[in-house]
Amino acid sequence: LGERPNEICLRTEPTTAEDTSRIAALWNACIGDEFPMTDRLLAQNWLGDFMRPASGSLCVRERGEIVGWVLFKANDTVPPILQKYRLRGGIGALCVSPSHRGKGIGSNLLRVAEEALAAAGCESCHLQYFPFHFLPGVPMVARDLVAFLETRGFGEFRECYDFIRDVKDFDCPSDPRIRPLSAAEASSCLAFVEREFPGGWHFSTKRHFEAGGAPEDIVVAIDRGEIIGFCHTFTKDSPLLGGSTHWYLLLGAHYGGLGPIGIAKERRGEGIGIALLMESVLHNKRRGVRNMVIDWTTLDGFYGKAGFTKWKTYLQGSKRLTQ
Ligand SMILES: CC(C)(COP(=O)(O)OP(=O)(O)OC[C@H]1O[C@@H](n2cnc3c(N)ncnc32)[C@H](O)[C@@H]1OP(=O)(O)O)[C@@H](O)C(=O)NCCC(=O)NCCS
Repeated sequence: LGERPNEICLRTEPTTAEDTSRIAALWNACIGDEFPMTDRLLAQNWLGDFMRPASGSLCVRERGEIVGWVLFKANDTVPPILQKYRLRGGIGALCVSPSHRGKGIGSNLLRVAEEALAAAGCESCHLQYFPFHFLPGVPMVARDLVAFLETRGFGEFRECYDFIRDVKDFDCPSDPRIRPLSAAEASSCLAFVEREFPGGWHFSTKRHFEAGGAPEDIVVAIDRGEIIGFCHTFTKDSPLLGGSTHWYLLLGAHYGGLGPIGIAKERRGEGIGIALLMESVLHNKRRGVRNMVIDWTTLDGFYGKAGFTKWKTYLQGSKRLTQ
């Protein structure tokens, strides 16, 4: 090592909970203007991810600081509710301090992550990391990271977006089919989401209730006593940050979010989805929300009807790890 000082920069080490603020500092040096990382979000989605292997968070240190970080997981052991994500290997973050670029740190962190994912049995490495993601893909503003990934074999890129709206002047006619969920309906809401949207949305709805989340954070569409649609909303009082509120520092004190939203398959195309969307936005406005975000979607036509416009653009994609 003494003869080749650069190699010191390439030695990867596991991170621990004590590294939380160092990781936040590195992330914010890389992309904090657009995506301000907080200890709160790291505690929730990094340390709080019970599916994250200890070896899936590796860093490069220099003089007590973290100058490179990669977060990845193979999802090799997932609970039954998340079976469809089993062995969907993903990279959740790849950061190299701007002052340490061009020394091979990023290439080395990515190589170590890809090798670990392949060894765990993943056929591909995805730029989606789920559940407990920070971002739904690589932010388009990180052009150097996109180019870096392209030259290292990532492809099949597709865009997705976050949308935003100041809801100060929002209004809509009320719809008698739509109202906030009551505490007594929590289990029928869970059963609806499990039946219609098994997997990630069922998992996140369950997690909301387990975290002590209010039933009225979920707005439902009801027909003849049956739930036929649900919409998860977030305010500053919601116990968990959702994908829509991860970057709340950019949204002012009265931030809010929305999503997922879904209508029962056999009831789509009847205007219920748009009515549920409108009522859910109004519900958040009545609870004091001003800036509101809808995350991880491609449905600009649908959300555009409620006056939401594109805020952030991400690239999803993948790379085959096996022949
Ligand atoms: C997206 C969804 C909630 C819309 O609900 P819906 O009841 O089918 O939609 P509506 O009948 O209220 O449609 C209202 C308008 O939105 C448009 N719209 C509906 N779904 C759309 C879609 N997937 N993409 C673009 N526009 C869409 C409709 O064309 C309609 O516009 P129009 O009145 O000009 O014809 C519903 O299709 C659904 O549950 N899909 C599966 C889950 C999902 O994708 N959720 C969103 C994740 S970001």
